[in-house]
Formats: sequence, structure tokens, C-alpha cells
Amino acid sequence: MSLTAERHRIPLSDGNSIPLLGLGTYADPQKTPKGSCLESVKIAIDTGYRHIDGAFVYYNEHEVGQAIREKIAEGRIKREDIFYCGKPGDAIYPTDENGKMIYHETDLCATWEAMEACKDAGLAKSIGVSNFNRRQLEMILNKPGLKHKPVSNQVECHPYFTQPKLLEFCRQHDIVIVGYSPLGTSRDETWVNVSSPPLLKDPVLNAIGKKYNKTSAQVALRFNIQRGVVVIPKSFNPQRIRENFQIFDFSLTEKEMKEIEALNKNVRYVELLMEEKRSARQRTVASVTQPLSPENLTCSI
Ligand SMILES: NC(=O)c1ccc[n+]([C@@H]2O[C@H](COP(=O)([O-])OP(=O)(O)OC[C@H]3O[C@@H](n4cnc5c(N)ncnc54)[C@H](OP(=O)(O)O)[C@@H]3O)[C@@H](O)[C@H]2O)c1
Repeated sequence: MSLTAERHRIPLSDGNSIPLLGLGTYADPQKTPKGSCLESVKIAIDTGYRHIDGAFVYYNEHEVGQAIREKIAEGRIKREDIFYCGKPGDAIYPTDENGKMIYHETDLCATWEAMEACKDAGLAKSIGVSNFNRRQLEMILNKPGLKHKPVSNQVECHPYFTQPKLLEFCRQHDIVIVGYSPLGTSRDETWVNVSSPPLLKDPVLNAIGKKYNKTSAQVALRFNIQRGVVVIPKSFNPQRIRENFQIFDFSLTEKEMKEIEALNKNVRYVELLMEEKRSARQRTVASVTQPLSPENLTCSI
């Protein structure tokens, strides 16, 4: 498949398609100036991005919406050009009376049926899941009366966490993997395992980058899109937003793809240890990225 800046969509099992490159938009709301997301999404659209990843729990989804509306009003894009992935829900992660997160209350099959109803009502074009393991995917796929299969599974995926088994399972079931934290996260200690080394300093990624006059970030992104994994790097820096888009003018050899695959450490940066980390420090609203229920279902609208 030859991928270009203008044409890099891949098909979804429901007949729609998804751009292989999107802009991630999670940034710590306590450390990020208001309006950064708005400006970044506008720059991204001007750069050529047509896929934006957001969520209510990122506290900036309204800025994403405003940016898209402004770009439509300017005549730069049409609404149908944009693949917006949101994670539905109008509440932050549920907690019990002691403020502890409620983990196991959700009936994922019933929630999936609600997602199907959203699609049938025309509220979402495509519906998918996030942070589902094989067992959870099988639960949905084998659900009696399943109307719509999940088209995608958004999970952590990058050269240090390549997800070979989940990727194979998803390929067999026509489920696209959307790789989050494709650059190895922002290394925010409140939700990231920072004992795992920084991905972008990796010598192999840097050596390959040197050969193509590309950065390690560009190589890491190219690696995933070249194997059909969607990437949603987050940047609110204009230069890096543009840099991350410059991944369609080179390709990695089979040998380089294998070398990068061999970097897999099977270690996640994004651990589900928020609760423990939260209790170890003062509770803040910034700790919203725990991939619990609101982030477990995704839809493109
Ligand atoms: N479903 C889920 O559970 C889930 C979980 C985590 C993330 N996500 C989604 O995935 C998106 C991406 O993941 P992420 O934000 O964890 O991490 P990421 O995209 O791997 O990395 C973001 C970090 O890398 C920096 N960066 C961006 N481009 C760079 C470049 N070319 N060179 C060097 N540094 C660069 C960014 O800083 P600057 O902004 O300063 O450039 C930011 O600190 C999120 O924003 C969110 O939309 C979903």
C-alpha cells in the first residue's frame, strides 16, 4: 500500500475508513494553558491531519470541536473530511462514597449495546473499544445478538510495546488497532511508568532516523503505520505537530521493520496503577487518564 500525506486512510469493517495518522489531544489540564488544544487542532488541520483523538475526560474536547468548526467556517475542510474519535460519557470516572474508583461495575456487553444504539441512531459513524484485551474482545464478538462488531481497539502501541499477539488477533477479526502513546507518552510520573527508558532516545530508532534524515519520533510513527497500526501522537507544539506528519515521504525496509519489532520489551508505559499512585499523593483532577470506562469505548462522529 502506498501511503501519502493526502491518502492514508485504511478501511474499517463497517465500510467506513480511518486515517492512519491522527492527533492525540490529552494534556494535563492543570499544566496546559487554555486554548492550546484549540490552536493545536487548527494547526494540525492546516498541516493535513484529518483524524483527531479526544475525550470528554481530557477536559478540552470543546476546544477540539471549536477548532473543527472554525476550519469548516474558513472553508478549509468539510465536516465529512474529519474523523473524530471521542470516548462517550459525560462523567469523569465513577468513584464510590470514599472517593475510590469503581472498577468492576460496568457490564461491557450492555454498554456495547448502548453503543450499537448510538450507531443505529446516527450519533456515531463507527464504534470501537479501547484497552480491551483478547478476552474482552471475544466477549463482545461472541455476544448473542451482536449487531455491530467493534471496528477498532485503541491500545498502547509503539516499538517498546508492539502488541504482537493482540495485533494478530485483531487482524483475524478485522479490528484495526489504534496505537496510543505512539511516542512513548509525555512521561508524566502521575500516570506513566517512567522506569521504562524513554522511547525516543532509543539508539536503533535514532540510527535508522539518521539514514533517512528523520527523527526517532518519525521512525516510531512510520513503523506502526507501515504495519497498518493507526497512530495518534499528541503534540501541542506547532513544529512537532508538523514533524509528526512528515512520515509519508520515506519507508522502512523489511529488515528495519524487523529490527524495530525486536525492540519490543513487552512493558507498558501506561499502567493501570492510577489508584495506587493517586493514594500515594494528593488527589487531583489531572489524573483523568486512567483507561477505565469512559475511555473503554470509542466512536467516530
Ligand atoms: N484510550 C486511552 O486509554 C488512551 C491513553 C493514553 C493516550 N490516549 C490518546 O493517545 C494520545 C497520544 O498518547 P500520549 O499523549 O500518551 O503520548 P505520545 O503521543 O506518545 O507522546 C506525547 C508526548 O510526546 C511529545 N512529542 C510529540 N511529538 C514529539 C516529537 N516529534 N518529538 C519529541 N517529542 C514529541 C509531546 O510533547 P509536545 O506536546 O510538547 O510536543 C508529549 O509530551 C493521547 O493524547 C490521547 O489522545 C488514549
